[in-house]
Amino acid sequence: MTIRQVHARRIWDSRGRPTIEVEVVNTDGTLGLGIAPAGASRGTREAVELRDGGTRFGGRDVQQALRAVEREIAPALAGRDAADQPGIDAMLVALDGTPGKSRLGGNALIATSLAVLHAAAAQARQPLWQYLAQGRPVQLPLPQVQIFGGGAHAGRRVDVQDFMVIATGARSFAQAMEMTAEVYRAAGELMAQRGPLAGVADEGGWWPSFARNEDALDALVAAIEKAGYTPGEDVAIALDIAASEFGSGGRYRLALENQELDSDGLSERLVRWVERYPIVSIEDPLAEDDEAGLAAFTRAVGHRVQVVGDDYLVTNADRVRRAAGLGACNCVLIKPNQAGTVTETLAALQAAQQHGYATIVSARSGETEDVAIVHLATGWNAGQLKVGSFARSERMAKWNEGIRIESRAGAPAGFWGRRALAPRTKA
Ligand code: PGA
Ligand code: ZN
Repeated sequence: MTIRQVHARRIWDSRGRPTIEVEVVNTDGTLGLGIAPAGASRGTREAVELRDGGTRFGGRDVQQALRAVEREIAPALAGRDAADQPGIDAMLVALDGTPGKSRLGGNALIATSLAVLHAAAAQARQPLWQYLAQGRPVQLPLPQVQIFGGGAHAGRRVDVQDFMVIATGARSFAQAMEMTAEVYRAAGELMAQRGPLAGVADEGGWWPSFARNEDALDALVAAIEKAGYTPGEDVAIALDIAASEFGSGGRYRLALENQELDSDGLSERLVRWVERYPIVSIEDPLAEDDEAGLAAFTRAVGHRVQVVGDDYLVTNADRVRRAAGLGACNCVLIKPNQAGTVTETLAALQAAQQHGYATIVSARSGETEDVAIVHLATGWNAGQLKVGSFARSERMAKWNEGIRIESRAGAPAGFWGRRALAPRTKA
């Protein structure tokens, strides 16, 4: 079976901004749709998102990326077999020809690559997760769900970007969703009562107008208790500090507390939080250029909490291997559009697994109704899934897809639960 047609169109993401969708049609009439998501707090080494610039849609139109698909990518794909993902992705990378995928655009490439993947699964008449699992036993991922959104997603009202929960006591994906729903609701009620509620942030989390970063942590613990759960047992805290957003060159500026800290100072602050609060996971605790700080932080707390590299590792297998050599982080955030193709995304995930790092497949802050990442997390047996908060349909579509995958006949062989977290306890 071969690819007959490839179309690209402009659609709109959850922030109302243009993005690119690619449709790949096979000769048997089956088809696949791939959509590029968009980040707001990006690592500098991510695949380049090609935007037109100028004034139209704030410079964010994607006509160049659309043209790249129509004029160059579509002719090169015609007649190829969608099942040959590695071959097609290698061809896309070569066709682009730049290190950062800046000529055709990382957004054009990931939309195409995902469309090819969907088309291959459709051609095989399998759900995507099952097509990816290739008969290997896989389990539903443990969700990380945002309760408060801050940083670049909420006018920098708090410095920390994501205050999340993980239902560590859940025994199924559906139960994790139930527990999260109660905590999300309790957090909203608490904030409405106490006053700092100011709408929702980009990923659907409550927009917190707190006076200190610690106030958000206290509110999160209170919300877990109000929902009837034991913090740290039933439901634990995960943070995405996204430190590259407020620090570089070893200097960190906490706007909320009007403080400037060096790498050790921020590290010590976070270690104190880990000691004081039921935190099980911290992402980007230090900036992407602070490799020594990331390694030191991992030495300090990596034996008891998960230390996740996002901006620092940018879903890149070479960078994961380099981090493993230094002992920086013990978990890799996997975002397909950081890499630019499905094959490179998988390579980063496999490099993580080879070095004993945990993995989290993640959405971006700019999303759509696309649910592909839920299938990637499940079919690749990644262990964990992060898609933002528990509100707004670009997020709920993904959580609901996990529930569907879990409850259908022929479902995966169970749920990862807390075992997915780094550091992985030896069996
Ligand atoms: P982004 O951030 O999608 O806005 O880049 C999400 C994250 O930092 O995990
Ligand atoms: Zn992040």
